[in-house]
This record gives sequence, structure tokens and C-alpha cells, in this order.
Amino acid sequence: MAILDWKTLPRPIVALSPMADMTDSAFCRVVKAVTGETPLIMFREMVSSEAVIRGNDKTLGMAAIHDDERPLVQQLFGSDPATMAEATRIIEAEHHPEGFDVNMGCPVYKIVSNFNGAALMKEPERAAAIVKAMRSVTSVPISVKIRLGWSDPTDAITFAKVLEDAGVDLLTVHGRTRMQGYSGVADWEAVGKVKQAVSIPVLCNGDVHKAELIQTAIDISSCDGVLIARGALGNPWIFKQFKEIAAGKTPEPVTLKERIRVVKMHLALHLEQYGPESVTTFRKHMSWYFKGLPHVKSHREKMMTVKTREEIEAVLDEILVTL
Ligand SMILES: Cc1cc2nc3c(=O)[nH]c(=O)nc-3n(C[C@H](O)[C@H](O)[C@H](O)COP(=O)(O)O)c2cc1C
Repeated sequence: MAILDWKTLPRPIVALSPMADMTDSAFCRVVKAVTGETPLIMFREMVSSEAVIRGNDKTLGMAAIHDDERPLVQQLFGSDPATMAEATRIIEAEHHPEGFDVNMGCPVYKIVSNFNGAALMKEPERAAAIVKAMRSVTSVPISVKIRLGWSDPTDAITFAKVLEDAGVDLLTVHGRTRMQGYSGVADWEAVGKVKQAVSIPVLCNGDVHKAELIQTAIDISSCDGVLIARGALGNPWIFKQFKEIAAGKTPEPVTLKERIRVVKMHLALHLEQYGPESVTTFRKHMSWYFKGLPHVKSHREKMMTVKTREEIEAVLDEILVTL
């Protein structure tokens, strides 16, 4: 198990943001394989603390970590401090993630209506109690992912201080409120005000869709780094591109040949994780990988109806031949 220390990690910290159904083990392995040696941190998709303590095998399996993915932070959601602590203890004993993250930013109704996700921003005492309860069962870093607020974009300033006092090691702030959902644009300046209010490291999140925007988001927010979500879907090269930009090079566009090589690698890892019947759940990744590419337009419909590995590979080979 690698050691994760948010304070001493080289700056800027550039990490993969947790995404339900997306940042599973297979995708994290692809991102790592494409990026190469670097202290790139993966945030695994959220898992339900209640499901973990009920002994739900599927949920616990989602938290499994392949060595290639480390260092990896497992995100949990829940609203009961004792349940969150017990889930932390179980996952740590089983899978040894390098850190835990608490979801206090998810805006989805199903989550907030149960006082989870962004709803915790309305309950600072409960949020602090969750962090303290988790702290009592683990010594690995605990981070929290929040939004700017529920509806007021300055809420996060006081909320972040509460979390810092509760012992949080790192905060990520998505530059939108819960009420905004995904509308408008992420406000990196407002994220910067949260950064100024605390002395723990803060990551800026929201709308960092291209490698070229990573440094801009850091400059505007003065944060310690960024967490990238949608910008990595269909584009696991974003982290490698940033390394190239930081080294003063201009990244080459990803060729179709390289894209197809990586899609095939991702498919193989997806099938290894979920079994041979799981081709249908890979289609979502296919649409991201080929989004907006004009020369594959005619193959798009086939991509969305494939049922077997052979069918997917045949479509991919057809695309290559038409080059
Ligand atoms: C498909 C999808 C699933 C997501 N699942 C999670 C999640 O499990 N936990 C979380 O904290 N945020 C989740 N998010 C939010 C992202 O981590 C991120 O905060 C948000 O998309 C803004 O960043 P971006 O503009 O880089 O996409 C999800 C976002 C997407 C698009």
C-alpha cells in the first residue's frame, strides 16, 4: 500500500474525480496505463455506507482495488456517523485504499432526499460528526468533496472551516451550488475564496474539460490542484497531455489508432471486472470515446447496439479500415 500525504504531494495535484458507474477499477486502470508513472490519484466512484455494512457483496466489490490503480481514494456516501465509520473500517480491512473521501456534494434527488451528498452542507454538525467518526477508525487521509453551497455560493466558506476543524485532510470544491446542478459554469474564483479560508489543501473541480484548462483553473482558484471528471470520460489521455504541457511541449492529438487501442484495452479490463455478459454496460464508454468524431458517425448506431465482444471489436476494426 502506497502512502498518501496530501500536504507533501508534489503540486499541482491532478486527480481523477469520482464518477458513479464510470470510475470503476477498469477505467482507473486505463487512466493509469495511459498516463504512465506519476503520482496521479484516482478517486473511486461513491459506494453506499449502508450497503457496505449490510454486507452487500456487489457494493464491497466496487471498492476492490487492483495494484495498478494505487494510490486510490475510496469515496463513501451516507449520513449516519456510526454507519460511515463502520463502512470505513470494513473497506479498509478488505481493500486498503490509500484514502477515504466523503461525498457531500452530490446534487441528485435520490441522494439528497436521504440527507446524503450535498444535503450534508445544510447540516454542518452532522458532517463534522461523520468525519470524526471515520477518523476514529482509520489513520489514512480523509477528504471531503463539497459544492459551493446548497443555494448560496458562499456557504462553503464556513462549511469548509467546520470540516477543517473536524480533522479533514483535503477538500475538493465543485464550483457550483447544489441548486445549480450542472447548469451555468463552475466558478473557480468562488472556489478560491474557500481555499483562502482554510489551511488544508483544496482541489478545484468543475468544467476542467481540457488539459489546457488545468493550469488556468489552478491560477484562478489558487488551489493545490484539480479534480477532473467529465474531461476524462473518453479522454483518459488528459492527464498525460497535462504532463506534456507542464514540460513545455504541445500534446499531439490522439490518433484514431491509439484511441482504438485504448478502447480495446478498456473493453478487456471491463470484461475482466464484470464478466463476458457486460458488453452492454461498456457502450456508455464507447459513446464518450467517439463523441464528436465526424469520421465515425456512420458507426455510431452499431456501437450502441453491440452485444458481444466480437461485435464491438468488429466495429472498431471497421473504423480502422475506413481510415
Ligand atoms: C456520470 C457522473 C457520475 C458522478 N458521480 C459522482 C460520485 O460518485 N461522487 C462525486 O462526488 N461526484 C460525482 N460526480 C461529480 C463529478 O465528480 C464532478 O464533481 C462534476 O462532474 C464536475 O466536474 P467536471 O466538470 O470535471 O465533470 C459525477 C459526475 C458524473 C458526470
